[in-house]
Amino acid sequence: MDEVVFRSPRKKGRVAVFLSGRGSNFMALREAVGRGAIGAEIALVLSNKAEAPGLLKAQEWGLETLFLDPKLFASREDFDRAVIREVEKRQIDLICLAGYMRVLTPVLCDAFKYRIVNIHPALLPSFPGLHVQQRAIDWGVRFSGCTVHFVAAEVDMGPIILQAVVPVLQDDSEETLAARILVEEHKIYSEAVGLYFAGRLEVRGRRVFVLEPGA
Ligand code: GRF
Repeated sequence: MDEVVFRSPRKKGRVAVFLSGRGSNFMALREAVGRGAIGAEIALVLSNKAEAPGLLKAQEWGLETLFLDPKLFASREDFDRAVIREVEKRQIDLICLAGYMRVLTPVLCDAFKYRIVNIHPALLPSFPGLHVQQRAIDWGVRFSGCTVHFVAAEVDMGPIILQAVVPVLQDDSEETLAARILVEEHKIYSEAVGLYFAGRLEVRGRRVFVLEPGA
């Protein structure tokens, strides 16, 4: 058996949500925190877009928010170094990417190994990247879905934590398929972050095992 390379901590965690857009996954995470399904608090919502609706919502709710303007940094690495400073300052345990439209540099991925997770609206490793619902329809797959995974430097390719399957219907448009997938995203993202802080995720090789409670 592959050796254990990571075991998630059992603790009341501090989460940072990174987003660039509407933030429905952020809202689902917050709701799950609120009902006690995730043993963590959302200690920061960070965005690279000042007007991201998700960021504005977080401000309205009185959460700590931060807008980092990419234009003020000479390189993507410099931007990510600033991200690291801000996240470390707030003693963040886990970064949840939730529609964060920036490719992370290895500077950030390496500094937070197994401490960054992402939600992707397809069944990885199929359809990484963008416009994946339309690409799934165009390819003719019968099933798509969503994936929560640890973030590695290679885009959309870190170890898979949870997936949910959604059928692709013959009359689906990009919008209808995306909407059905989104419902599942909200469920499995909250579930995955809940498992993380319950200390129930173990990475062996590139596989993630979900441990029994109390294991
Ligand atoms: C979701 O489909 C997510 O899977 C992808 O970006 C979208 C973000 O949506 N990474 P929202 O901002 O969370 O509503």
